[in-house]
Amino acid sequence: MDNFVKFQDDVDSWKSLMLMYNSALKEIQTKMDILNEEFQHIHRYNPIEYIKARIKTPESIVKKLKKNGYESTIPNMVEYVNDIAGIRLVCSFTSDIYRLAEMIRKQADLALLSVKDYISNPKESGYKSYHMLVTVPIYLSDGKRDMKVEIQIRTIAMEFWASLEHRILYKFEGNAPEYISRELRECASIVSMLDDRMLYLDEEIRKLEGEF
Ligand code: GTP
Ligand code: MG
Repeated sequence: MDNFVKFQDDVDSWKSLMLMYNSALKEIQTKMDILNEEFQHIHRYNPIEYIKARIKTPESIVKKLKKNGYESTIPNMVEYVNDIAGIRLVCSFTSDIYRLAEMIRKQADLALLSVKDYISNPKESGYKSYHMLVTVPIYLSDGKRDMKVEIQIRTIAMEFWASLEHRILYKFEGNAPEYISRELRECASIVSMLDDRMLYLDEEIRKLEGEF
């Protein structure tokens, strides 16, 4: 019976925690929609092509805790799993990424906990993306909570690469054959080149639009 009561308590706190992360995700999603719409209104241009938001599955939360040597408890997941709530902003050009990061930094009610710039410092694998860990306040009947949300910002080309790489990583459980990893790294450099050239083209078009 005691065990059952404890189990029920855990289930209840799990459920309310997930509700809080979900609310945090909605808050961020709305903020990003507003930024995008306002930007469109002023500059006739959308810095965000699309947004993906997700809550980490219980399986992945447990897996991550285990990987880092932590017991699967609710306090541990709140403390050590930073991407329970995650949102991804996918944009056209590298310049949009920094523009969005700047707009996020300026939001007074978001606290910036950390930044990982895998664009100026790509990972060994070739992975590129801009990560910001923020907290967003959510307001519940009994007061305010600051919840962590991981924001990933990347271009469509980077997203294309990362989703394929993720599938390969998953398939080979991190031990992909060397020729596959090499091919992936090469694709990553092609992606970077494509991003640079598309940005160059976009800037040239803007200059010409200004002239005519
Ligand atoms: P985890 O990698 O999530 O354990 O945490 P971390 O502290 O290393 O954070 P990091 O910023 O490196 O990664 C956070 C998230 O970015 C991951 O959960 C993935 O969604 C994504 N990510 C990081 N590295 C890679 C990579 O090499 N390939 C792909 N496809 N995604 C990556
Ligand atoms: Mg990592």
